[in-house]
Amino acid sequence: MNQRKMLSALAGETLSPPPVWMMRQAGRYLPEYRETRQKAGSFLDLCYNPDFAVEVTLQPIRRFGFDAAILFSDILVVPHALGRDLRFAEGHGPQMTPIRPDEIAGLGQDLDFHAHLAPVYETVSRLRRELPRETTLIGFCGAPWTVATYMIAGKGTPDQAPSRLFGYRDPNAMAALLGRLAEVSAEYLVRQIDAGADVVQIFDSWAGVLDEDCFARWCVEPVAEIVRRVRAVHPSTPIIGFPRGAGSLYADYRQKTGVTALGLDWSVPLSQARSLQTAGPVQGNLDPLRLVAGGRALDEGVDAILEVLGGGPLIFNLGHGITPEATVRHVEQMLRRVRG
Ligand code: CP3
Repeated sequence: MNQRKMLSALAGETLSPPPVWMMRQAGRYLPEYRETRQKAGSFLDLCYNPDFAVEVTLQPIRRFGFDAAILFSDILVVPHALGRDLRFAEGHGPQMTPIRPDEIAGLGQDLDFHAHLAPVYETVSRLRRELPRETTLIGFCGAPWTVATYMIAGKGTPDQAPSRLFGYRDPNAMAALLGRLAEVSAEYLVRQIDAGADVVQIFDSWAGVLDEDCFARWCVEPVAEIVRRVRAVHPSTPIIGFPRGAGSLYADYRQKTGVTALGLDWSVPLSQARSLQTAGPVQGNLDPLRLVAGGRALDEGVDAILEVLGGGPLIFNLGHGITPEATVRHVEQMLRRVRG
């Protein structure tokens, strides 16, 4: 009996078949998600209303029986709780008012950060009560660098040029912003674990645009700080780090941040992934577009991962979030292939 397979894999066990879940598993490729999203009105209403957030978190579990559920929310609720404005305009992604260096010192002053996020904690605790015992509940936050890129540019950009320039021109402001985000993100994760999250994941989706020096200062250091602070309160909760695009810096990232497991994007060669796996569990790393294409492209992608990484501690996942164009039929095909 493999109760809570995900936790066993995170403890370093090799499981066949491996536990499986998908980043962004609650999302627009699911008709039931689109229906609830419509009812909720806006994307943020979905995030801040525990009835809706619980419902969409459970939808992919009911349909596919994944080994883990991930809290439905967004990484940008953290700057929102610090008083930055946030809008999700249809088809445009997130939009914020770019932060100025002189606004950093007072960030979140006189605001009750945890009161703003109380609906998220409520969602986590209801989920833990409603989920089957064997389904692991994952909480999450964005890594400080990735959250900062949206706060600085006010939107998604292809290479985060505005944030890199901001950091080169005003390194003290960047350090202050990342330090503040690390502090509140650690508290945010601690509260999610208090509320019932079994595992937490730190999403650093824009780690890959940094040179070696900035990667160490803006990506590794703040995440290491979060890991220290969370472990001081919850020493046994596994932490997954996902520094997307970190390439040859992945090994260093694991060692210096102390994360329990590494989330690998699909550009990581499986031979490199295998060598990273000798130091601890890995998660990943199917190209999400294989779930759009289906057919042989999907089967071959799954088989390659299982063949190279199936002999060690593995959590089967995508190399980034599932896209709205993926199909339910292809997700089913992937699961049959993984589970044999
Ligand atoms: O994985 C899950 O199912 C949990 C939910 C989750 C969402 N966002 C829901 C969401 C998680 C873990 C995130 C993290 C997130 N949010 C990241 C890091 C991971 C990544 O994908 O790189 C980032 C960079 C964000 C910021 C963000 N939120 C962007 C850039 C966008 C727009 C892109 C898009 O797909 O539209 C969002 C919106 C968002 N977050 C959606 C979902 C399901 C789509 C919004 C909708 O339903 O209209």
